Amino acid sequence: MLTRQKTLHEMHSPFGDIPPVNTGREESYMKKIAVITGASTGLGREFVRIIRDKREIDEIWAIARHRDKLDRLRRQMGAKIIPIPMDLSDPSRIEELGHRLAQSGVEICYLINNAGYAKFCSYGDLNVSDSLNMINLNIGGVVAMGLTCIPYMPVGSHIINIASQAAFQPLPYQNLYSSTKAFVRNYTRALHVELKDRGISATAVCPGWLKTDLYDRAEIGAAKATSNFFGMTAPDRVARKAVADADKGRDLSIYGLYVNFCHIGAKLLPQRTVMKIWLRQQRIDPYSRPSQQ
Ligand SMILES: NC(=O)c1ccc[n+]([C@@H]2O[C@H](COP(=O)([O-])OP(=O)(O)OC[C@H]3O[C@@H](n4cnc5c(N)ncnc54)[C@H](OP(=O)(O)O)[C@@H]3O)[C@@H](O)[C@H]2O)c1
Repeated sequence: MLTRQKTLHEMHSPFGDIPPVNTGREESYMKKIAVITGASTGLGREFVRIIRDKREIDEIWAIARHRDKLDRLRRQMGAKIIPIPMDLSDPSRIEELGHRLAQSGVEICYLINNAGYAKFCSYGDLNVSDSLNMINLNIGGVVAMGLTCIPYMPVGSHIINIASQAAFQPLPYQNLYSSTKAFVRNYTRALHVELKDRGISATAVCPGWLKTDLYDRAEIGAAKATSNFFGMTAPDRVARKAVADADKGRDLSIYGLYVNFCHIGAKLLPQRTVMKIWLRQQRIDPYSRPSQQ
């Protein structure tokens, strides 16, 4: 059996396991790949499961920070999974991925920008660095991955960006998170229009509460914080609807009656009223001093 020698770049690349470089001397077939961020757990993992079962997809470039979780994903989901450990809040790592794409003979059929996190707290519970890190991942990562991957996306391919129900209105005590998700929702829907001339769709996915590990990072013991997770759903249902909606070329994907109801409510009611309803639901009094909570 012929084995291919690693190039110098591959040996020193942080993406040690990513697919072979197409030198032009090898076969001209362009591999069809999906790029999925935040692939190791939660919603991202469900996207991996669904896309893996699509026969036309040769490889899934699975991105997250922790290599061990990605290796486990590959063991569980099979050899289509190519682990790429990287921190998407660091633009230089996305630039490196861009160099790698430029050298690889691949077509990206799905780009799923799923990596993201929340903090349930007040504006002052996070320092400048932590606040900007959330923006760098939830917004910067989505924009940079899109700009990097679109040149490799053929007609009929799909971008799926994960926003949230939190994108429908401003949310006090999830202020930063909901604002990043409002960006993702608006950016994606406008991108969908701009990409029409390339035959690429962009879908903003707006899930309600999901049973995932998000809460491990989000709950930091803040005095005023989200605590009512009404209508929590299994992530596989949201992922399945998101892929189906993307395949139909829709710019928005909302799963479940309750989230659809909230979506309509946020359109009809003044935002001040929606924020009041949210505070009541979360039993947070904005006027009380933290010690009185
Ligand atoms: N859970 C919910 O209730 C809910 C509701 C609406 C929307 N969402 C959105 O759904 C998406 C997925 O979240 P989830 O609920 O599935 O949470 P999760 O289980 O915590 O998954 C987050 C994923 O992102 C990866 N990740 C985190 N920081 C990263 C970084 N800097 N660079 C690269 N990868 C990173 C994580 O792996 P590593 O830790 O190894 O990096 C993990 O694979 C997020 O965008 C979230 O905002 C979640």
